[in-house]
Amino acid sequence: MEAPPRSWSRPRLSRICPSILSADFSRLEDEIRVVARAGADFLHVDVMDGQFVPNLTFGPILVEAMRKLTSLPLDVHLMVVDPLRFLEEFAEAGADHLIVHLEAVKDAPSSLEAIRARGLRAGLAIKPETPLPPYLEALPHCDLALVMTVEPGAGGQPFLSGSPKRIAAVRQEVERRNLDCLLGVDGGIGPETAREAAKAGADTFIAGHSIFRTPDPAASLRQLRRAVLPG
Ligand code: DX5
Ligand code: ZN
Repeated sequence: MEAPPRSWSRPRLSRICPSILSADFSRLEDEIRVVARAGADFLHVDVMDGQFVPNLTFGPILVEAMRKLTSLPLDVHLMVVDPLRFLEEFAEAGADHLIVHLEAVKDAPSSLEAIRARGLRAGLAIKPETPLPPYLEALPHCDLALVMTVEPGAGGQPFLSGSPKRIAAVRQEVERRNLDCLLGVDGGIGPETAREAAKAGADTFIAGHSIFRTPDPAASLRQLRRAVLPG
């Protein structure tokens, strides 16, 4: 049986989600406190396994530690092969959203429903070169659609110019089916590219370097939010 999807409150507002991949891990508690005070909506956690992407990062232990440091929703982006293997561990660790890649699962709808059935919000990410049709099909099972705007695997890369078209196609499908699904963008997001992505229909902005690798992360976060205000 499918778990009933949980609706988002404030569905139309934009959400800013700092990606801790770019944070200074020797001061993680401070980094989290600063962005939380500046109004971060979620904290994005990039899990990489050295197989689905070449890099290796962290796993449930970090999520568990972050859970003790913040009440912000933890948005866990699994760039790993066969991600459902880790569903229980990330759920136990305190993840709120679990995002899997279309390219890493056999059956996206059932994977997303398994995440929902465990009581988490389910996200589906797509790489920049993957054709959209199967992705669009799976959207009714998603709480969060994540359009990768760089090749996944590392922070600090430039936003790919083909992204707005893909974002617009996903937005169109979300509207056509009247889905309660956030539309996130991840990679190379700063004030300019966030504005471009927002115009194409994104409402959720993951940003690493443009927040944490600046002299004043709180000011940078607020600048990003201003950039995506409607009007
Ligand atoms: C890339 C990750 C991103 C990354 C974004 O594979 O999924 O979340 O942290 O970093 P920036 O914003 O620096 O491109
Ligand atoms: Zn990510």
